[in-house]
Amino acid sequence: MYRTKTCGELRIDNVGEQIVLAGWVQRIRKMGGMTFVDLRDRYGLTQLSFNQETNAEVFEKANRMGREFVLQVKGEVVERYSKNKNLPTGDIEINVNELTILNEAVTPPFTIEEDTDGGDDIRMKYRYLDLRRECVRRNLELRHKMAFEVRRYLDEQGFLEVETPVLVNSTPEGARDFVVPSRMNPGQFYALPQSPQTLKQLLMVAGFDRYFQIVKCFRDEDLRADRQPEFTQIDCEMSFVEQEDILNMFEGMSRHLFKVIKGIDLPKLPRMTWADAMKYYGSDKPDTRFDMRFVELMDILKGYGFSVFDNAAYIGGICAKGAAAYTRKQIDQLTDFVKKPQIGAKGLVYARIETDGTVKSSVDKFYSQEVLQQMKAAFGAEAGDLILILSGDDANKTRKQLCELRLEMGSQLGLRDKNKYSCLWVVDFPMYEWSDEEQRLMAMHHPFTSPKPEDIPLLDTDPASVRANAYDMVINGVEVGGGSIRIHDAKLQQKVFEILGFTPEQAQQKFGFLMNAFKYGAPPHGGLAYGLDRFVSLFAGLDSIRDCIAFPKNNQGRDVMLGAPGEIDQLQLDELQLQIAPKA
Ligand code: AMO
Repeated sequence: MYRTKTCGELRIDNVGEQIVLAGWVQRIRKMGGMTFVDLRDRYGLTQLSFNQETNAEVFEKANRMGREFVLQVKGEVVERYSKNKNLPTGDIEINVNELTILNEAVTPPFTIEEDTDGGDDIRMKYRYLDLRRECVRRNLELRHKMAFEVRRYLDEQGFLEVETPVLVNSTPEGARDFVVPSRMNPGQFYALPQSPQTLKQLLMVAGFDRYFQIVKCFRDEDLRADRQPEFTQIDCEMSFVEQEDILNMFEGMSRHLFKVIKGIDLPKLPRMTWADAMKYYGSDKPDTRFDMRFVELMDILKGYGFSVFDNAAYIGGICAKGAAAYTRKQIDQLTDFVKKPQIGAKGLVYARIETDGTVKSSVDKFYSQEVLQQMKAAFGAEAGDLILILSGDDANKTRKQLCELRLEMGSQLGLRDKNKYSCLWVVDFPMYEWSDEEQRLMAMHHPFTSPKPEDIPLLDTDPASVRANAYDMVINGVEVGGGSIRIHDAKLQQKVFEILGFTPEQAQQKFGFLMNAFKYGAPPHGGLAYGLDRFVSLFAGLDSIRDCIAFPKNNQGRDVMLGAPGEIDQLQLDELQLQIAPKA
């Protein structure tokens, strides 16, 4: 037996026992005739003590070890003189009388500690060492627990977990596909699924009624803190349901996770229409941990000779409570922030509410105190508040800029506490959004999303205004999940494809397998998918989803540890009948 106990379980009650432990050397402290070693395994740390007087041979051996050596020790559990209250095993130590070095280790390139000295690149290159750090391992333990509780909840609700293939054809989520060449079918390619969307709909046609899968999805898109090229969905679909049934079922799943994992009783989730989310927060995933809603000021501030506002299509602002004490320098920094190319505002107008209630603004020469007081009233602002205003000639763009400013102010004022959770459903998304790049309407969710029945007539007259039976779950400004009720009527689907610019032949070629299946009796159905990585990182309070993925990719989509992607042999290329074009 390699061990009789783990490094996390010995307590004062075990004093006097003879035990065997195995693990890695975390730290060695040499103190004259005594050497102390912290031995680590997945379960914790236990202090080993080596005594020159009582066992000189073992003591000498211990002194020759280095960090991350793998050991087996036999010894007696004894009470410690100086106890460590911060460690569950801190009352005891092991008087070692037998030491076996199971494996030596070269010095690791960074310290295996909570706050390591290793930068991102080096930690990713040696991810197996990074994963030895407790803080990283804890994230994966949380991930395991969440996936387990998802399975428990969905199983209890009668969902079946069904695996779907990874070598498929293009799916409809609208990102770029990762493709895989087929040796047996030269010149032809599989696409990796961006989600199992069409397959889960086919499972509904097959009568499975309630499906789920914790599943890898692949999207070749620009990466961000909350985006990986391969990520994991909790993918779900239900038959004979309306939107309300789905929202209730998955609100229930979220409530279960919050309760069992975080010990939080999630209140009934508020719902916000997409239109309100855009109007008040400039985002379809508003961070509602704090208020600071947008107030539109067109009616109040236009027409006083301030040309920036007079010519604007949108003027709106936020009121930062208690921020009137912001210095000139801080406001200049905010101005620089909104002018950054990624945000793109032209400038920032501000107004402070003085202690006597008067409004002091950066555009005082255009506005009387009376007008400024009207503005103050529109915000419900009080003495000590700071009003920040943006304007622009494109309302949606300006709202997005104001959204960034609102989030920045939320961060600066400490209103985005990672231990506080604010969840909501955003509902009534538009069916379509205009793509400047493609110069056509695109599906906002995907082309199988059903319009709201009352908006169906608008498909003929004003498709851009049609709302969908689509919904997202948003937590702390992160889209954790989204889905829709699907179209199950072939004629309606045909019309939706037409508006998206597919000819009947193109639609048939791309999605014919699904349309044909629907001819054999498709039940009304709908579903959604959560991003498991995002859900876990919210629960763990992480800044990036990478930290809850065992082997993530970097921002260039590379696995620097594996060296993937990499070149392949000429032989492989020949078998696939592929040639690499010379670099442009
Ligand atoms: P959607 O495209 O909204 O819907 O994706 C569902 C959820 O998956 C997560 N997600 C991601 N997480 C990490 N990295 C990515 N690159 C990434 N892309 C998406 C998000 C998102 O809310 N088939 C539909 C679902 C349905 O209609 O049932 C779909 O895939 O948390």
